[in-house]
Amino acid sequence: MLASEKLRAVVTGASRGLGFEVCGQLARAGHQVVLTARELARAEAAARSIGPGVEAAELDVTSGESIAGFAKRLGPIDALVNNAGVSLRGFDASVVRNTLAVNFFGPLHVTQALLPLVSDGGNVVLVSSGMGELSVYSSALRAHFLDESLEVEGLVALVEEFERDVSTGRHTARGWPTSAYRVSKAALNALARILAKKNPRLHVNAVCPGWVRTDMGGQSAPRAVDAGAAGIVWATTLGAGEPTGGFFRDRKRIPW
Ligand SMILES: NC(=O)c1ccc[n+]([C@@H]2O[C@H](COP(=O)([O-])OP(=O)(O)OC[C@H]3O[C@@H](n4cnc5c(N)ncnc54)[C@H](OP(=O)(O)O)[C@@H]3O)[C@@H](O)[C@H]2O)c1
Repeated sequence: MLASEKLRAVVTGASRGLGFEVCGQLARAGHQVVLTARELARAEAAARSIGPGVEAAELDVTSGESIAGFAKRLGPIDALVNNAGVSLRGFDASVVRNTLAVNFFGPLHVTQALLPLVSDGGNVVLVSSGMGELSVYSSALRAHFLDESLEVEGLVALVEEFERDVSTGRHTARGWPTSAYRVSKAALNALARILAKKNPRLHVNAVCPGWVRTDMGGQSAPRAVDAGAAGIVWATTLGAGEPTGGFFRDRKRIPW
């Protein structure tokens, strides 16, 4: 795909916040956008408010049935932006399960279902966070996330180990942070590296939007939503020879 070509892009969790802004920026640049949200009526209202070139569709990233139905109706695309995410209050086994379901297993299952529909040279974006950094983990866990030979199955097993360690109260002793959000985003960064290696015909990258004023980021965040979305849009429209398998903020590769 040439960076100048018009593409068809799917954005998850786009009823508001960064996802909605990414849809707007893509549509204003002339791209075709499939704006998805958990509730069809909210997707339709959001799509209408942006204007022509934006289709609305229902997609709950935690539901296998919703993902399968969406994939069946979709047709070919050039880009997938896994943006849907939650940052839940508290820390217990249920918060961990619900966070990982949206933030890690959601992007994994949506990407696996839609990969055959993405054109050669296309882009898959995983919206991650600086909170995914690994300095707060034990060195053994850090090494596991960074292991170049890690495959999807191994990453899923690692994430499930976190869920188990939280439910048995051993997560601190085992070197995990007390944050489901942090673990979900570290896992997304590893997933970008793994999927990029497995799919050399595509670009697969994780992107941190910075700390942005949305419902999730809150009103004290220093960045406006358009600035946060710009880095995601950049990763959605990469062309031949551009990077894959990395973690980026403001178009620059960053360590995690
Ligand atoms: N804001 C920040 O400072 C910041 C920083 C770093 C990373 N991020 C990441 O950026 C992404 C977008 O965040 P945001 O700030 O725009 O958050 P937001 O304003 O809270 O919006 C989150 C979006 O995700 C959707 N969503 C939640 N659960 C879903 C599900 N099961 N299926 C489909 N959609 C679902 C929500 O839909 P409903 O309207 O239906 O709830 C909403 O549209 C997230 O992945 C977040 O982790 C944000």
